[in-house]
Amino acid sequence: MNYAKNILETIGNTPLVQLNHIVKDLPCKVFAKVEYFNPGHSCKDRMALQMVEDAEADGRLKPGGTIIEGTSGNTGMGLALAAIVKGYKLICVITDKQSKEKMDILRAVGAKVVVCPTDVEPEDPRSYYSVSKRLAEETPNSWYVNQYDNPSNTKANYLQTGPEIWNQTDGKVTHFIVGVGTGGTISGIGKYLKEQNPDVKIWGVDTYGSVFKKYHETGIFDENEVYSYVTEGIGEDILPKNVDFSIIDHFTKVTDKDAAVYCRKLALEEGLFVGMSSGSAIKGLLQMKGELKPDDVVVVLFHDSGSRYIGKIFNDDWMRERGYLEDEVVTAADLIKNHIDKPLVTVRTEELVSHALERIRKYKISQIPVIDKDGFAGSVEDSDLFAAYMVDANIAEKPIREVMGKPYPVVNRKTKVAEVSKLITKENNAVLVDLENGKFHIITKYDIINSIK
Ligand SMILES: Cc1ncc(COP(=O)(O)O)c(C=O)c1O
Repeated sequence: MNYAKNILETIGNTPLVQLNHIVKDLPCKVFAKVEYFNPGHSCKDRMALQMVEDAEADGRLKPGGTIIEGTSGNTGMGLALAAIVKGYKLICVITDKQSKEKMDILRAVGAKVVVCPTDVEPEDPRSYYSVSKRLAEETPNSWYVNQYDNPSNTKANYLQTGPEIWNQTDGKVTHFIVGVGTGGTISGIGKYLKEQNPDVKIWGVDTYGSVFKKYHETGIFDENEVYSYVTEGIGEDILPKNVDFSIIDHFTKVTDKDAAVYCRKLALEEGLFVGMSSGSAIKGLLQMKGELKPDDVVVVLFHDSGSRYIGKIFNDDWMRERGYLEDEVVTAADLIKNHIDKPLVTVRTEELVSHALERIRKYKISQIPVIDKDGFAGSVEDSDLFAAYMVDANIAEKPIREVMGKPYPVVNRKTKVAEVSKLITKENNAVLVDLENGKFHIITKYDIINSIK
């Protein structure tokens, strides 16, 4: 019989899969180390088990003990599998940025989940670093894992993932690229690969909102680099001991939007249903195109599975809310679709300035097309009217005809956004769209600004 004695024995030996489409602009072969084949669906199963076994070996973790960790979910899943098989309790401290699926999955495998706010300083008592440490102090017979500084994290990847990649590429790997969070993956694999061949290049992928890239390049820990971001699993506002900056040759930063868009592309173009940091990793690699030659053999590591991001990256509403859906706004009709149901507010040439001011206030708008019996005859803008009113309050009783500016240009529904934006200038703040049913609608510079992602 050929079987594993328990689920932990199925960790590792994940496949290396050639990428065929998404990398078509690169000159060389690219292979993905697809880590969602691990039983907990991420690379983190490896280091979680290593950390537990090392802690058992030196007595930090005792029988019946409670494992406590601040984890973004994947390490928690790995720890949960180890806890189930080995009979420990597990408390996972997680930030509210993490997907709900990740929290539900952790609960499903028996972990107690404590949720902390994302946007607080690491030293803040509410931060997930502080809460995990406090829980560890307060819980009897507990062991605080600390994946950031725990050397077993790097060790697992040095002992397993590195050799797997080396053997699977027959020692031909020339470049390894991966997203960096705690640093365990890149440091362990990077160290192993460089020991086999010092010429192998190790590239780290960082996010905007994280300190790694600048620290690596300048040695400066710049707090200005820290702000909140969406990508889960990579980038930090601290320097974990597991990030061995000396083995990383270069960091490239990838935006949240690119990470999400490229994550979707991996599913559609390669059939690889992976998580957001894998989108960052592949986009980071494409950003490094100029450094690659035809004979190079690149390995990119995909940390986890897309199933943990169903409510996020693979949800159109979530993507749309953040402006991550590409090329959605292409024509004039797209620009007005959010307010097309509202009537076009106009003023007649013979109405008074006070009427226009009243409409500007009532509808909270900034510009009004002026009409006469033949159609659009001019336009009035709030700033011009209010400025004129300040100089001469009597202007309120003058007819619009005497103060109006030029009529707004008219485009049709299919006019491209690029053409529409050219018509919006300092002198002209709006464009009218002919809806071809005798009606018109207005596009303002705010519609154009809102369409920029
Ligand atoms: C989805 C995901 N991607 C990337 C990483 C980064 O890996 P490492 O912590 O080994 O640097 C993690 C780690 O938490 C992760 O969960």
